Amino acid sequence: MLDLSKPTSRDTSPDKLLDTSLGARVMERLAALAAFTDEPGALTRLYLSPAHRRAADALRDWFRAFGVEAVVDAVGNVVARYEGEIPGAPALIIGSHIDTVRNAGAYDGNLGVVAALTVVEQLARRGERLPFAIEVVAFGDEEGVRFPITLSGSRALAGTFDSAALDACDQDGISLRGALTAFGCDPLKVGAVARDPKKVLGFIELHIEQGPVLESEDLPVGIVTAINGASRLAVEMRGTAGHAGTVPMALRHDALACAAAAMTIIEDLARSQTGLVATVGRIDARPGAVNVIPGEVSFTIDVRSPDDAQRGRAVADIGSRLAALAQARGIALTIATTHEASACVCDPQVVTQIEHAVKRQGVRPLRLPSGAGHDAMAMASLGPVGMLFVRCEGGISHNPAERITVDDADMAMRVLLDVVRHFRPMSAR
Ligand code: GLV
Ligand code: MN
Ligand code: MN
Repeated sequence: MLDLSKPTSRDTSPDKLLDTSLGARVMERLAALAAFTDEPGALTRLYLSPAHRRAADALRDWFRAFGVEAVVDAVGNVVARYEGEIPGAPALIIGSHIDTVRNAGAYDGNLGVVAALTVVEQLARRGERLPFAIEVVAFGDEEGVRFPITLSGSRALAGTFDSAALDACDQDGISLRGALTAFGCDPLKVGAVARDPKKVLGFIELHIEQGPVLESEDLPVGIVTAINGASRLAVEMRGTAGHAGTVPMALRHDALACAAAAMTIIEDLARSQTGLVATVGRIDARPGAVNVIPGEVSFTIDVRSPDDAQRGRAVADIGSRLAALAQARGIALTIATTHEASACVCDPQVVTQIEHAVKRQGVRPLRLPSGAGHDAMAMASLGPVGMLFVRCEGGISHNPAERITVDDADMAMRVLLDVVRHFRPMSAR
């Protein structure tokens, strides 16, 4: 159960609270956003769900309250543009995602969106114009939980969205095309969401770390150097359903027992290699009755590594080991790749600019890689990207126990504002 009522603060003296007003403002908005859920008592906000629509509308209203127009584009991203000194100038894009995993924490993605909105609010309320435009984007499909695809929003902006994905279906058989239409979007216009790289100066994403490094270093923020590559696979195993009491063990073709053996193989493989991680996050066994041998199983595999070659070898290895296992057990096997993202190196010049801002705010700069995936991976094919990580309690994420402190939110805001105000377009890529 989410409890955002009491954001923890390391110093709650009145002076400090005055100092931390930006952090407090961010925390208030995050608490308000966390109320937009499809599952009462938990935060679950899948791509293009009713809660996603309500969160998108709330963001649009928040932008309008300080005079900045925001729209929902054809793929469900909320996009707000704050013009620079010269209207129509190229834009620095900042933001993150507002879709969540099931039973999520309130900060993954949402923090980066609220922080970006609050940056624009600060500029707009002061009438402060920069030599470039700022665009805030709240992407809708970073988690890839609803459909067997992911990063649809950032890929659409980057011009790498594959229109075949419109036919991908969720668990209830609803296609992405149908879900977009129900959300109020025109699926035929997704291609037009793509940006002209000449009009984009770069993308900066603020995000919780989702790991324990910053906490162990006693640092509120850190500078991301690179993001792990990822592969996602959908596995189907088909055996023979039968009577749980009558079919002798030696004569069974139990798809779920085969899947269990497969999971041990996958876990052993990942444990044996430094840097490699692999997860079976979802499994569905049919027909699903206490007295029936499972005839069909589907499950997902998520494989990640900072090294694309290592990830490629692991995926191939999993494929051949599962094929041998299935053959030995008389099970029919299919494995489909549903997502591939190469490891992404953040732009060295953006990394340096973020590092300078961190130092100007009096924080020891620490560079670290990201094990989690982010919209920045897709945005890297549009322009230079960089990320700022914010410490989270115990490194816990994808869990309602996800927490950050109001002081850290405040420092993150200061650094992000500083990065934006000092941002210099890249000299050459
Ligand atoms: C998203 O959070 C991912 O890394 O899968
Ligand atoms: Mn995220
Ligand atoms: Mn996530």
